[in-house]
Amino acid sequence: MPHTHHQTAHLIYGPTAAGKSTLAQQMAAQINGVRFAIDEWMHAMFAEDMPDALEMRWVMSRVARCQDQIWSVAAQVLATGTDVVLELGLLRKSDRAAIKARVEQAGHKAVFHFVDADVEVRRARVLRRNAERGATYSFDITPTMFEAMERCFEWPTAEEAL
Ligand SMILES: Nc1ncnc2c1ncn2[C@@H]1O[C@H](COP(=O)(O)OP(=O)(O)OP(=O)(O)O)[C@@H](O)[C@H]1O
Ligand SMILES: [Mg+2]
Repeated sequence: MPHTHHQTAHLIYGPTAAGKSTLAQQMAAQINGVRFAIDEWMHAMFAEDMPDALEMRWVMSRVARCQDQIWSVAAQVLATGTDVVLELGLLRKSDRAAIKARVEQAGHKAVFHFVDADVEVRRARVLRRNAERGATYSFDITPTMFEAMERCFEWPTAEEAL
């Protein structure tokens, strides 16, 4: 049956500690939307199982499974007529294209929000957040993890910016 309601999925992405979760929380409150954050799901589902020697491959396969399950629920939320704010990591350009396609195939609108800040500002924010454990803290980000994420993140190109 064709959808008669078209909701918006706000898709938040950017490098580590750019301010994504801060924006997502503000936005969800503003639009009365439902927020899904990959870090919260990863922490709730897999924190207990994390191997001591953390591998990017171990993390990324679980991120992909969480993304699929989040989308399954988010699609139901959209179908009820409520907007969603999705903070799914979306490190790679292909991740961004994939979620956009899912949103549009379900008959809704995808709006990207790219959040960025200077790398030194972000390094300092991570250290501070680890110590303070404020509203957007999910788990400690070590300097090693920060640098690994920097290597994984694909910066948006001019053509990708909407
Ligand atoms: N505009 C800002 N000015 C100053 N500090 C900020 C700003 N935005 C966020 N912060 C702070 O910087 C830290 C990182 O912000 P936040 O947790 O929102 O980033 P993030 O992009 O979600 O990070 P991660 O990639 O690790 O999930 C937090 O402690 C937050 O309070
Ligand atoms: Mg965050």
